[in-house]
Amino acid sequence: MRIVLLGAPGSGKGTQAERIVERYQITHISTGDLLRAEVAAGTPLGKQAKAIMDAGELVSDDIVLGMIEDRLSKPETQHGFLLDGFPRTLAQAEGLDALLTKHGQPLDVTLLLDVDPDEIMQRLLARKRADDTEETIRNRLQVYENQTAPLIDYYQNQGKLRKVHGVGDVEAISKKIFQVLDDFA
Ligand code: AP5
Repeated sequence: MRIVLLGAPGSGKGTQAERIVERYQITHISTGDLLRAEVAAGTPLGKQAKAIMDAGELVSDDIVLGMIEDRLSKPETQHGFLLDGFPRTLAQAEGLDALLTKHGQPLDVTLLLDVDPDEIMQRLLARKRADDTEETIRNRLQVYENQTAPLIDYYQNQGKLRKVHGVGDVEAISKKIFQVLDDFA
């Protein structure tokens, strides 16, 4: 099963991704986690990415596409994968499609977690990650609207978009997600 998990910052992608990969035994690939690992390790890429992430802007398409290409070439992804926080721009989505076409492994489904901005602000201010300040969250939401939300139409036009309301009990949201994804398992 090859899945994209789409949604605004704080919509619960990471929380639900853990549950999805456990149920379907697929590999979780989060570009945010990969970038934070580079920052923590103090690599040149991490040093470059840190200021961009702290400002709530997007790291360049070339860098994240390179990271994804590297991960998708690993044998464990042959059993399926869940992409969390990627793609985030049309260029990334097109790059991903080209890559998967080359491997003969098209996406099965894109799942959109739908959560309104007020709820997101409350959740992220309560969490306190380095990029969870009010100013950065506002910018992340704006960047999402401008650069990532157009992917909703992109996947809708491919007939691959499914939407789940992401507010309420975490377990109940997982159940709704599984109802959608079981069709593709
Ligand atoms: P990334 O790590 O992807 O962050 P994000 O998209 O901003 O998402 P979050 O991790 O904040 O939220 P989430 O949707 O995963 O929700 P979560 O489950 O954590 O990216 C960080 C940065 O890296 C980007 O800003 C960018 O700079 C860079 N980057 C990453 N990918 C990139 C790419 N492809 N291209 C370019 N740059 C890229 O939940 C959030 C909180 O809410 C948690 O505290 C959780 O416990 C809580 N919560 C979850 N579900 C519920 C619920 N149902 N009810 C109440 N609380 C809940």
